Amino acid sequence: MAVLPQRKGPVGPSDMKPVTKTQVVIIGAGPSGLLLGRLLELQGIDNLIIEAKSPDYVLSRIRAGVLEQGTQMLLREARAAERMDREGHVHEGFALSFLGKMERIDLKALTGGKTVMVYGQTEVTKDLMDVRAQSCMKSIYDADEVMPHDFYGERPSVSFTKDGHRHTVDCDYIAGCDGFHGIARKSVPVDKIKLFERVYPFGWLGVLSRTPPVSDELIYANHERGFALCSMRSSTLSRYYVQCPLEDKTEEWSDDRFWEELRARLPSDVAHHLVTGPSIEKSIAPLRSFVAEPMQFGRMFLVGDAAHIVPPTGAKGLNLAASDVYTLYHILRKRYQEGRTDLIARYSDICLRRVWKAERFSWWMTSMLHKFSDDPFNQRIQEAELDYFTRSEAGRTTIAENYVGLPYERVD
Ligand code: APR
Ligand code: PHB
Repeated sequence: MAVLPQRKGPVGPSDMKPVTKTQVVIIGAGPSGLLLGRLLELQGIDNLIIEAKSPDYVLSRIRAGVLEQGTQMLLREARAAERMDREGHVHEGFALSFLGKMERIDLKALTGGKTVMVYGQTEVTKDLMDVRAQSCMKSIYDADEVMPHDFYGERPSVSFTKDGHRHTVDCDYIAGCDGFHGIARKSVPVDKIKLFERVYPFGWLGVLSRTPPVSDELIYANHERGFALCSMRSSTLSRYYVQCPLEDKTEEWSDDRFWEELRARLPSDVAHHLVTGPSIEKSIAPLRSFVAEPMQFGRMFLVGDAAHIVPPTGAKGLNLAASDVYTLYHILRKRYQEGRTDLIARYSDICLRRVWKAERFSWWMTSMLHKFSDDPFNQRIQEAELDYFTRSEAGRTTIAENYVGLPYERVD
């Protein structure tokens, strides 16, 4: 059975050879799938990416843009970091705002020199797509009815429909990099998987605007009206968020209403410097914590959002996906280059130890910074917690070392 030839450009090279077998089938061309595919490719491990949407659709999603050093290192190893290193901004700290004041978390000083890079996830995805397009590895976009098969056996495969034709690709392993709504996790028998979930009773209304950021560093604000975040993509492009009711629709939020609400939640001197302008994107996102255990099912692995979701308050979503990729990449590299089949069964435990710590941090930041009810007791407790953590060096250090990212576990 033949897989369709590839178009030149973002979907891969234009050779006409059909693919019926590869070493690793990667389901999903988000940042997880693209990064894994590229790292495997550079080690000579053959892989095919199958994506349900078009390249433009994948690139239209706007998501957080704070990269831990581990994520940056992996992108460099993938030789996809040239633009990030040129255009990204290194941030040595961020601010927590509450009770009308700002407390800075000096990431660099508190972590022995670690920093984060502000560079949009959309740009990361684009850079990974570009290096994929220049490689000889195949990617299939706009695939329908993608389905993993026989992953508990020795000979797994993935089938899909493209332009009305059904295809099957045999492989050694399947990487489910297909996000929260993907098919990989859903194809696991219910008695073989355990799901942990918390859905928060509010959303984030996000606005992108061609205006200079209000501050050089990110500001996470606790306020009795609700949470707010001042972030950025560049010196001329700002990204702001306000906590809003889940039922709200973007049409109910004119630009003026948004700016007014954001101003009200910031300390007055910051609010005074806020430059406003027309929004170029406006969307409401729900907040969720979610973990699937385990993350490996025979010869199929779940990677990134397919296995776990964090609320964006800790900027951990993409970074956690990258640390899964790091682990799977090294396990597969050692499997193919050294014959180490024993490491396959360790994927889940290694990932989940780090996943749960990032879940904890994201849940904690969310709990400390958002308005959960009208009960003023909760507000006072949050203010006391913020005051306690930001005044103590131990408190600031625990925030900083989680924010820059906990260390990766070695695979050996
Ligand atoms: N078949 C093929 N592809 C699929 C399927 C399917 N059945 N279902 C979903 N996909 C694709 C989606 O269209 C998407 O492009 O899988 C991709 C998953 O990408 P993401 O959702 O971006 O997930 P991931 O690559 O794990 O990225 C991690 O970090 O900040 C977070 O949520 C943020 O995207 C982010 C992530
Ligand atoms: C963003 O810039 O979109 C952003 C930054 C930090 C977060 C969440 C989102 O914690």
